[in-house]
Amino acid sequence: MRFHRLASLALFPVLGFAEDLVIDDFEAEGFGGWTVEGEAFGKGPARGTLPNQMEVSGYERRGHASSYHGGDDSTGRLRSRAFRIERRHLNFLIGGGAYPGETCLNLVSPEGEVLRTATGPNTGSGGSEALEWRSWDVSDLDGREARLEVVDRRRGGWGHITVDAIRLSDTPAVVEVERSWGVEGRYLAWPVTRDKTASRRFVMTLDGEPFTYANIALSGDPDFWVFTDLADHRGKTLTVSARLPRELREAWERVALSDDYPGEEMIYQEDRRPLYHFTSRRGWINDPNGLVYHDGTWHLCYQHNPYNIFWDNMTWGHAVSDDLFHWEELPPALVPGPQGVMYSGSGFVVPAKRSALPVGDREGLGLAYTAWGELALEPGQRATQGVAYSADGGRTFSKFDGNPVLEHLVGGNRDPKVFWHEPTARWVMALYHDRDEYGIHVSPDLVSWRQASTYRIPGDSECPDLFELAIDGDPQRTKWVVWGAKGLYRIGDFDGEHFEPSGEPQRHYWGNAYAGQTYDSAPDGRRVHFGWMRGDIAAFGGAPFSLQMTLPMDFSLREVDGEVRLWIEPSPEARGLRRRTKDAGVGLRSDGEKIEGFRGRSFEIEAVIDLEKTTAERCGVTVLGESIGWDRATRTLGGAEGRQAVVDGKLRLRVFSDVGTIEVFANGTYVGSYVDQRGGPLTVIATGGEVHFDELRVHRLGSVWNR
Ligand code: FRU
Repeated sequence: MRFHRLASLALFPVLGFAEDLVIDDFEAEGFGGWTVEGEAFGKGPARGTLPNQMEVSGYERRGHASSYHGGDDSTGRLRSRAFRIERRHLNFLIGGGAYPGETCLNLVSPEGEVLRTATGPNTGSGGSEALEWRSWDVSDLDGREARLEVVDRRRGGWGHITVDAIRLSDTPAVVEVERSWGVEGRYLAWPVTRDKTASRRFVMTLDGEPFTYANIALSGDPDFWVFTDLADHRGKTLTVSARLPRELREAWERVALSDDYPGEEMIYQEDRRPLYHFTSRRGWINDPNGLVYHDGTWHLCYQHNPYNIFWDNMTWGHAVSDDLFHWEELPPALVPGPQGVMYSGSGFVVPAKRSALPVGDREGLGLAYTAWGELALEPGQRATQGVAYSADGGRTFSKFDGNPVLEHLVGGNRDPKVFWHEPTARWVMALYHDRDEYGIHVSPDLVSWRQASTYRIPGDSECPDLFELAIDGDPQRTKWVVWGAKGLYRIGDFDGEHFEPSGEPQRHYWGNAYAGQTYDSAPDGRRVHFGWMRGDIAAFGGAPFSLQMTLPMDFSLREVDGEVRLWIEPSPEARGLRRRTKDAGVGLRSDGEKIEGFRGRSFEIEAVIDLEKTTAERCGVTVLGESIGWDRATRTLGGAEGRQAVVDGKLRLRVFSDVGTIEVFANGTYVGSYVDQRGGPLTVIATGGEVHFDELRVHRLGSVWNR
């Protein structure tokens, strides 16, 4: 084994680590000095990423030890010669699986006792192959002999380990930091970079009790600032600790508690900010969660990474509105905790005495969520279901003490949608199980659950919804609907135990919309739905927030040509956005004719086309370069894949354009997409003939951010 003073390396005379002792930097061809067992480590150090591996980064120079030879299923061990511990710290880079004893680097005494051990950071799907600095304080072992073992005993996902740059040093490569603040302001503000590989794990306590944890890409050269919203914790003491590389010391000193955060003055004014769609002040959003209407307030929770513009740290962001458009963001409803990060779920009104949740004598609110245990601080059960409750009208939520209320059952089971089923007087949970299968679970009290049945939505998965609707508004004729994340749905009957589909899956919901759900307890029997508009964060041009919700929409059932189908329309509240209206003239129009509109990117086009009087093969409108045309032969809405039957010879179109998106509602079908809005005039589509507009209006829509 090469065991030398780093200063003697001609290559690096300037680094100044004169005192460091290199155990191994894995730059040689073979593993000289190590005993190699098994196949996993190959014949020598890896020179970068191995076949089928995610891109490996963070190692020094060319080589690093990797047990990914032969993929995750190979196993093996590297054992070093004994060396004397002559410095206060042992520094190294490590990556790969986070399985103690199975994917690890061990410091072992001559008697075989494991003196120190470390793993990589990854368990669940996703993760990163970046190696990170770690440092063991070995001052208590001064002068003792020990050896190192790099162990891979694990098969399957993240069953490998990577190690590099093992050095004895008097200065640690990473330092344990800890700071405390009396919470006198609302925000703990963090300077961050967009670079995900720079993320470090921060652990937070409040008054000494576990609070939460997050991966934050702290940076001395920030792209923007993010914050921990502490509005609900004033007066407490917040303590944050982390292991940081030395070069982040200064950035760490800039983390500050205050009533504002740098960049706040620009919030909602950014060029890429949608003007009337929900986005978060900061960070990434995905699925809508916990949709519940209570006491005049619409609650919108959402999958949220408060600390950056990519998916991570799943937290339930929380916003409230009295009209589905003007939102006020509250502190998160649920933050990552001991059972894991907070995956999707639902919200519901909890009347007094109808559950084992301590909501008090008055009506409370409840949330059902998935705790994704693989991403817990100490990884536990893969995915369990928990409940939380609010006794203050939905301002704050507490996780139930007896969680999980449903242990892990199968696969990546998740996304509980819970509601009260009046005929059987109990709670029902639709839960995604695995592949295209969902389960129905029932409970008298929201705490003890029994699996009643399963159902399938071929072609779909994740994020169930289950609700009852009247056909053509007739309360005597109702059907139930099961819904999956893509918007595939089945109509059928539900008796509180089983869902019996009456036909194959249908779909009237297209484009980028995904993982939507409907509101519990909406007024006037309404079924109000939000979806998430998934897409490429590049569409947000590096803004400090990414992705958005769809428009709110109202669902109903209609019988069309003898078949019952879902009918999707913009929620009536959208009319409240209209500021000015131009009547663009009705009657026959020909292809390419300009429609007089408004400047800007935020408007609605409302059109009724009489298909009998229309001679064109394709008819519709072009909005900001996107053609929204209905094709007579295929009865489909072109340019997007949405399809709809024409009901009464009229095509009723409502097209909403906002910064970066276009959403189309056409005879009960919805298509929502991100678009590149370079502009372009509003024009008529009338291919091969003329189109007859019974109505054609353009409305300029106001921004909801300056009420
Ligand atoms: C859907 C989904 C859910 C899961 C959540 C995690 O987009 O995969 O199934 O709960 O996102 O953020």
